[in-house]
Amino acid sequence: MKILVVGSGGREHALAWKLAQSERVQTVFVAPGNGGTALDRNLKDINLSDPAALADFALQEHIAITVVGPEVPLAAGIVNLFRERGLKIFGPTKEAAQLESSKDFAKSFMQRHHIPTAQYQTFSDLKAAHAYLDTHGAPIVIKADGLAAGKGVVVAMNIAEAHAAVDMMLSDNKLGDAGARVVIEEFLSGEEASFIVMVDGKNILPLATSQDHKRLLDHDLGPNTGGMGAYSPAPIVTPELHARVMREIIQPTVQGMAKDGIVFTGFLYAGLMIDEHGNPKTLEFNCRMGDPETQPIMARLKTDLVNVMEHAVNGTLDSIALEWDRRTAMGVVMAAAGYPDAPVKGANITGIPHDTSDCITFHAGTSLNGGQLSVSGGRVLCVVGLGDTVKSAQKHAYDVVEQIQFEGAQFRKDIGWRALNRKH
Ligand SMILES: Nc1ncnc2c1ncn2[C@@H]1O[C@H](COP(=O)(O)OP(=O)(O)O)[C@@H](O)[C@H]1O
Ligand SMILES: [Mg+2]
Repeated sequence: MKILVVGSGGREHALAWKLAQSERVQTVFVAPGNGGTALDRNLKDINLSDPAALADFALQEHIAITVVGPEVPLAAGIVNLFRERGLKIFGPTKEAAQLESSKDFAKSFMQRHHIPTAQYQTFSDLKAAHAYLDTHGAPIVIKADGLAAGKGVVVAMNIAEAHAAVDMMLSDNKLGDAGARVVIEEFLSGEEASFIVMVDGKNILPLATSQDHKRLLDHDLGPNTGGMGAYSPAPIVTPELHARVMREIIQPTVQGMAKDGIVFTGFLYAGLMIDEHGNPKTLEFNCRMGDPETQPIMARLKTDLVNVMEHAVNGTLDSIALEWDRRTAMGVVMAAAGYPDAPVKGANITGIPHDTSDCITFHAGTSLNGGQLSVSGGRVLCVVGLGDTVKSAQKHAYDVVEQIQFEGAQFRKDIGWRALNRKH
């Protein structure tokens, strides 16, 4: 059968790489793909990204299942469009994707269904927003309502920063429509984890746990990024906490969406904040897999992903179990010079070794021209090491990172530090 993966990042390379391992697959198309998917002889890039053009392609090519990586086409309704045309696709409808595409939607949904999350209020009026800040004080968190590619959240540690964030969004319109409404919410402290499940509308299949690193620099310093590395499993998510997150957050979310008449299908990603007593709260929902969490998660998945996707689009996820490599997978992102503010494109990339049983290099912002691989985006590569211990996974990843060269490459040297510190 033929499969289509929509997207061009490291997440999509990892999904396509895993889908292509299935013996049932004839071709995995990636639209539009990147330098890594172009190099992989098991994958075929197609230069399309418009949802209607993709649906035409899927019909022509008799694509059995389409898997969507990023949030933007989901929020634009690619799933609605494919289904109207009789095509099987894994992802949420435009309506269900509001869990990610509108922070206000997600917050009022959580409040209505008693899902633990920070206290909040939503504003479009500038004066009212400033007054709320004055009443509540700092630290406090200001979030643009709409999709902002990771640039829509300000965690204000003092009140001046909080007022500036509200001005930036509501009065200077720096984020456009996405910032025309803001959610102002209570600051939560603790440790973050990513909790990702697959949902077929009713049944829920949890993926392996993971944790990412948002800040650019070692010791979690510097600006926020799309993610500089991630690993799986996340030792903070104990079996007890896992059960609790399923019971208090994931199940009520899936049931609540169905109750509200917006059946959720697709990957559901809850960004969690776990406080010092081990209580989880939901920071946000994403309606897709995380990037870079996907890369270490796919590196550990042993089950045939095509079978899993087939159950997912047919509503039978209750009849499949996932099997995981017991090793730790540690993904280290190599980013372009100037990332995240102004990534420099064009540098040639050399030294990527062949994948082995303990290290895989996934591409993100790379392109292949006449056999030469070069930098074409902010996050360039994600090198995933596997090992019996966190330490050996980390070593396998960094041994390969050190071999790869491009001008101005940035990467953190401490990916996995939380897991390493948590000695058991
Ligand atoms: N209520 C909160 N308290 C403390 N930190 C928060 C809170 N909400 C978000 N953050 C921090 O900001 C980051 C981004 O917020 P998030 O809601 O995940 O938005 P997005 O991923 O869309 O930018 C989180 O990963 C977390 O580090
Ligand atoms: Mg987030």
